[in-house]
Amino acid sequence: MPPADVRLTVEDLVVGFGGNTVLQGVSFSVARGFTGLIGPNGAGKTTLLNAISGYVSPTRGRVLLGDRPLTSLRPHRIARRGLGRTFQTPRLVPELTVWENVMLGLDGHIGWDRKRSHVVSLVRVEELLRQLDLNDWRDHPAASLPFSSQKVVEVARALAADPLVVLLDEPAAGLGPAEVERLIEPLKRRVEERGLAVLIVEHDIELVTRLCSRIVVLDFGQLIADGAPAQVLRLPHVVNAYLGAGVAAVG
Ligand SMILES: Nc1ncnc2c1ncn2[C@@H]1O[C@H](COP(=O)(O)OP(=O)(O)O)[C@@H](O)[C@H]1O
Ligand SMILES: [Mg+2]
Repeated sequence: MPPADVRLTVEDLVVGFGGNTVLQGVSFSVARGFTGLIGPNGAGKTTLLNAISGYVSPTRGRVLLGDRPLTSLRPHRIARRGLGRTFQTPRLVPELTVWENVMLGLDGHIGWDRKRSHVVSLVRVEELLRQLDLNDWRDHPAASLPFSSQKVVEVARALAADPLVVLLDEPAAGLGPAEVERLIEPLKRRVEERGLAVLIVEHDIELVTRLCSRIVVLDFGQLIADGAPAQVLRLPHVVNAYLGAGVAAVG
């Protein structure tokens, strides 16, 4: 049964590269709060985020943001409809400052004219820099930041336009435990405050369990489970998918 207050719906999504079908008819939905997307390396998680956000074109199926299909829209148009995302490897503009990189996330909103909307956007960027503890870095070029802080900037940029839905591709990967907390705690607060819907790809099962009321599991391009973490992580075929990849699903 789909959760209440669905923000994003993925219907029968098929994506192939050459002869290789990477997503084989994936369907699920994302509501407010955190939904976890887990699965072994190569399962198709990043491809799924790319298909949702318009970076790759599906050969079948569709994606709806609210009740509006995103079919054939370019990534920047999808972003304007209210979808933010991060990339597994941060895609910041290295020579621009942290503030400028976060401002880039506003594209779309700025064009809406209206001084008021412009000012509101600027205030929101300031708020994000403060909440995510990036103010000390604001005038530094992104390239000069440690990797962990670049990942935080990536999240700030994804949130800058005040999206309805945000896709996060392994935001905590490569971060130490303290750095993970520095990112996750303010992110959680922000998601609650704004009523955001977040789809988060994450390998750290403990973190996924802590954040997500619901998880979906992808294996070889197919959705093999969808439900509450405690139930899903106990399913034998989910555990097997992880053990097959040499990773324990349940600690
Ligand atoms: N642009 C692409 N061209 C060809 N193959 C791709 C492309 N992107 C991903 N793939 C393939 O799709 C499969 C799933 O990759 P990916 O979505 O990155 O998995 P995950 O994020 O779950 O680790 C892999 O076999 C990968 O090699
Ligand atoms: Mg990936």
